[in-house]
Amino acid sequence: MDTIVSGSVKESRDSQDCWTTENLEVKLPSPWFYRIPNSCLPEPIKSGRLEYVSCGENASVFLIHKNDECKYAVKIIHDGTDINFPAKEEVNVSLLMSDHNIGPKIFLFGECQGECGDGSSWFKINFHFIIMERMQTTLLSYMSELDLLKNGKIDETKIQSYEENIETIINTAVDLARSIWKLGYKSSDVHGGNLMFDLEHGKPLRVRWIDFETMVRVKEPMTKRDEEYIIDLLRNPPF
Ligand SMILES: Nc1ncnc2c1ncn2[C@@H]1O[C@H](COP(=O)(O)OP(=O)(O)O)[C@@H](O)[C@H]1O
Ligand SMILES: [Mg+2]
Repeated sequence: MDTIVSGSVKESRDSQDCWTTENLEVKLPSPWFYRIPNSCLPEPIKSGRLEYVSCGENASVFLIHKNDECKYAVKIIHDGTDINFPAKEEVNVSLLMSDHNIGPKIFLFGECQGECGDGSSWFKINFHFIIMERMQTTLLSYMSELDLLKNGKIDETKIQSYEENIETIINTAVDLARSIWKLGYKSSDVHGGNLMFDLEHGKPLRVRWIDFETMVRVKEPMTKRDEEYIIDLLRNPPF
């Protein structure tokens, strides 16, 4: 098989080395690998250079570099060892959120049949990919940057600007969450790693929720209590 993207189906969420993109070949600690045929993937992935960002249990994220630019990110979701994992549902909700400017704008999405195996035996598995606008940073990493600044205790003005930005970002996130509720969903995975934004001249430009894997259907509108819960989860990361 002419493999362009390969990775592992991993058990834990925090391993740094579950993917490597060096020559897009796999050097993995995990016994499980997956691979997707080149012919199935669309042009931006084929001709771009993929930079590994993260891999979870059911999905991997890469940045796509092309012509010295990095405008797109791709999330590759696989159907998982649990046959009922609704990968397609994540794609559908992501499209809805893209249309409402709640999530990153999606340029292209699709499906590929690939393989998963341990290197000697392989079984067929379905992959969904979403090519979306690349966002600059997550709230979680922005807050870690602030912690570093505070430890250095050098630049009070910079610290203040970070703190003001975080307030703005969290307020916008709550407004966006209210819009998600109005569309009949809520997220059961609210944390700063699932909130992204761009910065322009040091100010947050666009704030977007990402990761619509664990959405729950709701009928009632968001309450003040829900709002406070979201703010608390964003302001006080448990890790
Ligand atoms: N559009 C994007 N642009 C840039 N980075 C992204 C984008 N979407 C996701 N990421 C990065 O990938 C990470 C994992 O994405 P996410 O959708 O939360 O996957 P998972 O389901 O594995 O948690 C995010 O925390 C973020 O760092
Ligand atoms: Mg996530």
